[in-house]
Amino acid sequence: MQPPDLLMIPGPTPLPDVVRTALGQPAMGHRSPEFKAILEDVLPGLQWAFKTEHPVLLYTASGTGAMEASLVNTLNPGDRVLALCCGIFSNRWADIGRLIGLDVTCITVPEGQANTVASLQQALHDDLSHPPAQRYKAVMLTHSETSTGVLNPLKELVRCIKAHGALSIVDAVTSLGAAEFAMDDWGIDLAVSGSQKGFMLPPGLAFLAVGPKAWEAHKQCKNPGYYFNFTKTKKAQAIFTTPYTPSTPLIIALQAALTLMKKEGLPAIVARHATLQGMVRAGLTQMGFSLMVPNDDIASPSVTSVYPMAHLSAPDLRAQLKQRFKITVADGQGVLKGKIFRVGHLGYISERDVLTTLEAIKRLV
Ligand SMILES: Cc1ncc(COP(=O)(O)O)c(C=O)c1O
Repeated sequence: MQPPDLLMIPGPTPLPDVVRTALGQPAMGHRSPEFKAILEDVLPGLQWAFKTEHPVLLYTASGTGAMEASLVNTLNPGDRVLALCCGIFSNRWADIGRLIGLDVTCITVPEGQANTVASLQQALHDDLSHPPAQRYKAVMLTHSETSTGVLNPLKELVRCIKAHGALSIVDAVTSLGAAEFAMDDWGIDLAVSGSQKGFMLPPGLAFLAVGPKAWEAHKQCKNPGYYFNFTKTKKAQAIFTTPYTPSTPLIIALQAALTLMKKEGLPAIVARHATLQGMVRAGLTQMGFSLMVPNDDIASPSVTSVYPMAHLSAPDLRAQLKQRFKITVADGQGVLKGKIFRVGHLGYISERDVLTTLEAIKRLV
């Protein structure tokens, strides 16, 4: 007997049946009226998900593409920027920034900790000693740091950035559709996400919500690139098309996913993730595991990082889970590779999936 694989990783997440059916639809021309009608539904749907009245740009790319697009389109080489670093993905902001010639300063906390309002406030206060033209133009930060399972206090961090006047550029890749997130109410200037996470789709679409201040910055940007160019994408999307050939099957499936998400409702989606997170944290703690993020207040609702027990290494636990139960949990990344395992509880995941995973782990330890 071969039960289907259970993917308990923080993306790509399992696919709902309606999404899989949508992915199997006959090919559709991307300039056809049928496809235009899908974009007329999907683009406002993305605004609903980000809780924004401003345009959400849709790219055929992964989340990293949207991260690069956001910096390339709003900043110029030599601009000073601040990156809040707490793991692999938040470090990526600094890496991309340096590569495109930004003058990047990092505030780095050890793995498993969240970036704090106090250290951000201090850095932004110190920045005021620079003449206005040389102050930080942007602060890049990550809501849910997937490599460690930390949820940063985004609302509070963005409030500080707003008071300083820099652009807030937010990675919401594993927080959108899982954690509370409110682009406009929280005053976020630019936020990125991807399809294979809370949207329950395969990888391949990137979403980029752009607020008015980010549009102003874009106007000052000397080389916004070609494929990811905000102006080209906005202009095309205004008439419900795309500048280049998009991934039509993924966008058709996005319509199905958004319909499902709207039916559940954002508050219920956030509540479901909180429940799953609580079950995973409580279940593993009861078994004797130590969590990498013991503080519930800064724990991501998408993924839980766990230290293995002395008698069963993380690679062995992962291998046995896969072999015996066809359940996949994620490895650690970077310096944490092989040292922790990460249980994803993101997207199309139910209480039954979590209970199955917990019981399977229990039988191995
Ligand atoms: C928080 C976060 N940011 C960025 C990315 C990069 O996204 P992608 O792998 O889709 O390029 C990921 C991927 O897992 C992520 O979890």
